[in-house]
Amino acid sequence: MPVSIRDVALRAGVSVGTVSNVLNRPDKVSETATLRVLTAINELGFVRNDAARQLRAGRSRTIGLIVLDSGNPFFADLARGAQARATEAGLVIMVASTDGDADREHAYLDLFEEQRAFGVLISPHDVDPGRLEQLRSHGVPYVLVDKGANEPAVSSVTVDDVAGGRLAVQHLLRLGHRRIAVVGGAESISQVADRLLGARQSIAQVPGASLEEIATAELSVLAGREAGRDVAARLRADRPHAVFCVNDLLAVGMLQAFSLLGDVRVPEDIALIGYDDIAFAASTVVPLSSIRQPSALIGATAVDLLLAEGPKHVLFQPELVVRASTVRGAP
Ligand code: RIB
Repeated sequence: MPVSIRDVALRAGVSVGTVSNVLNRPDKVSETATLRVLTAINELGFVRNDAARQLRAGRSRTIGLIVLDSGNPFFADLARGAQARATEAGLVIMVASTDGDADREHAYLDLFEEQRAFGVLISPHDVDPGRLEQLRSHGVPYVLVDKGANEPAVSSVTVDDVAGGRLAVQHLLRLGHRRIAVVGGAESISQVADRLLGARQSIAQVPGASLEEIATAELSVLAGREAGRDVAARLRADRPHAVFCVNDLLAVGMLQAFSLLGDVRVPEDIALIGYDDIAFAASTVVPLSSIRQPSALIGATAVDLLLAEGPKHVLFQPELVVRASTVRGAP
């Protein structure tokens, strides 16, 4: 039989209520009683039964964080920021990765609802908005992460990805590049669509500039390497002078392909800029220029929005980080 709260009370010589206060409202218990209770807990190996507390409170202390790709350092950093803020509130984060699978995304929502999660933070892939509203009507609030909400009643936190795409291509245009390619993803991913829109806006501002759009099946290093091989295989006259990758993983992959194939120098032959400014971007063989997203702050803000009363939309601005992959001699 598992050790019960009554066993602990008996061993410590206090009431069950005192043991409960030590666990839930420690500020209401004297140091002496607290020490006796904690000693009894350790001696007996007592583990609190969260299910009972959950039933009383109606919700668990777990926040479900559903991301597109937990292998992407951007989401790992976002999760770290969310976890730090959740810990301050006595909550925990459970990360689930959809990897672009809509069925898996809905299965995670079902799981967190059944678990009576404290709330859900979701970077949606293909989720039905009606399912999210159903989640909320069943008592599990949610916050959209890395995607803006289309309606006032839903909280969201994201970066202005249209501005980010604009910033990346403006940087390349200001360096004098006119034949530019944007690499990555399908426009069905809202982050990709917004960055592409921003890139097109910047190109439209400069007569004579052109934008080639190269879609990839994934937003991964391998997809970037494949795109890099394809570009390097072209005649020099057919290659772009600069490339904007919609995330750093793609840019890292392209850089690897150019370096392995050997006949494309970065930035001399092709300037290269990514998006996210993951930690690895600064230490690639040619340090990568990127558009920085405050990933950890996005995660922490998402938890704040979940704890806050009333919906709110937080929109962060992206930041250009210039390194050697676009400007020779840059750090
Ligand atoms: O998941 C694709 C991309 O969207 C990530 O690299 C990050 O940029 C997110 O916003």
